[in-house]
Amino acid sequence: MVEVSTSILNIEKGKEADTFLKLEIAKTDYFHIDVMDGKFVEKNTYNKMLENSEYIKRISNLPLDVHLMVEDVKKSIDDFLAVNPNIITFHLEACKDKSEIYEIIQYIKNNNCKVGIAIKPDTNIEEIFEFLPYIHMCLVMTVEPGKGGQTLITDMINKIKMLKEHIDNEKLEIDIEVDGGINLRTAPEVKKAGANILVAGTAIIVAKDFKVIIDELKKGINIF
Ligand code: DX5
Ligand code: ZN
Repeated sequence: MVEVSTSILNIEKGKEADTFLKLEIAKTDYFHIDVMDGKFVEKNTYNKMLENSEYIKRISNLPLDVHLMVEDVKKSIDDFLAVNPNIITFHLEACKDKSEIYEIIQYIKNNNCKVGIAIKPDTNIEEIFEFLPYIHMCLVMTVEPGKGGQTLITDMINKIKMLKEHIDNEKLEIDIEVDGGINLRTAPEVKKAGANILVAGTAIIVAKDFKVIIDELKKGINIF
């Protein structure tokens, strides 16, 4: 079953509470928390995402899907463990070497949280293969991390296919999450390629009825 994780990055200022409630009613499967430190990516959403996460935890039982786009991964993990997320995903490119990657995987798990690794569009998919047996999810960025509202990079479809093929060949149980430019037009092809969790921000937040768009994304019916 395909799940939808709604990115709260571009929620209208002052409408956060109302939007979170509407997303809860629309049954988003996760709230996707885009944590940016102004160093790994240009924008800095760190405190806003911490605040929003704390608020969501107070009004909703829906799980938090935390996407760390930060240089100081360890410190961010400590900060966001405080909001009891379902999963924390960090970027392969933020780590200096393999031992740091394994250390972070273990650290997140030791704190009773699921772990994901994200890869940027320019990172070869093979670079993540050795870590797959130890993680719960691979987040394939289908845009350059750093902002919402971008167009999906179509070369990423093949990358998702290669990842899915490897996971199936190795008989691994891992979620494939795709993130960036996901909408009713691109959802069918990323699903066909093997993604089972779709992150969408703009496509959902601009919609009049969140439930309609979330249900359509899951079905992936091409209405264009
Ligand atoms: C980009 C973020 C994405 C983004 C998705 O760095 O990781 O989660 O907010 O937004 P849309 O769906 O608008 O591309
Ligand atoms: Zn994200």
